[in-house]
Amino acid sequence: MSRPVLGAVLIAAFTSAAAQSPPDAPAYVLNPQRAWQNWTLNCQGCHRPDGAGSDGTAPSIAGTVSKFLNVPGGRDYLGRVPGVATSPLGNADLADLMNWMFWRFDKEHLPADFEPFSAEEIGRLRTQPLRLEASPMRAALLKKADESGVSGK
Ligand code: HEC
Repeated sequence: MSRPVLGAVLIAAFTSAAAQSPPDAPAYVLNPQRAWQNWTLNCQGCHRPDGAGSDGTAPSIAGTVSKFLNVPGGRDYLGRVPGVATSPLGNADLADLMNWMFWRFDKEHLPADFEPFSAEEIGRLRTQPLRLEASPMRAALLKKADESGVSGK
């Protein structure tokens, strides 16, 4: 495929995908459109466009990802999980993407007193990316959330 054609295909793909972007987001999400595009380019290959995950590659985050915000240690886990910590995005873009992601995929479990991630917080957490311990930590945190009655919907 020649370059101009590929360019046109990419623009067309982006334009049609942009039309599917969720129309609104809380005010603390500085740029929902950009957050969504960053999700598309950096995360959905594993997590899928609707956050449903893919077998053996990434867990579903739809309907669960904000549960982590309700248990001690969960917030740190979210900033240190490899897909987040090692993403190519800058801290400000990554923080905005995270804040958008909680709302987009699991607004049911967002704590009433949710404090959006700042670029500084994400920047600090991602300096200590999790490795093999991510998976057992994930299971323990979700268990804690379910035991403490962070109700699913
Ligand atoms: C290569 C596949 C892959 C990519 C790309 C990826 N992730 Fe993940 N993600 C995972 C896996 C696997 C886990 C489960 C924890 C672990 O074992 O690393 C996970 C866990 C998470 C979690 C913690 C919630 C949970 O249920 O464990 C969040 C939040 C998350 N990813 C967000 C993102 C974001 C945001 C991006 C893009 C910047 C991204 N991920 C890119 C594979 C991926």
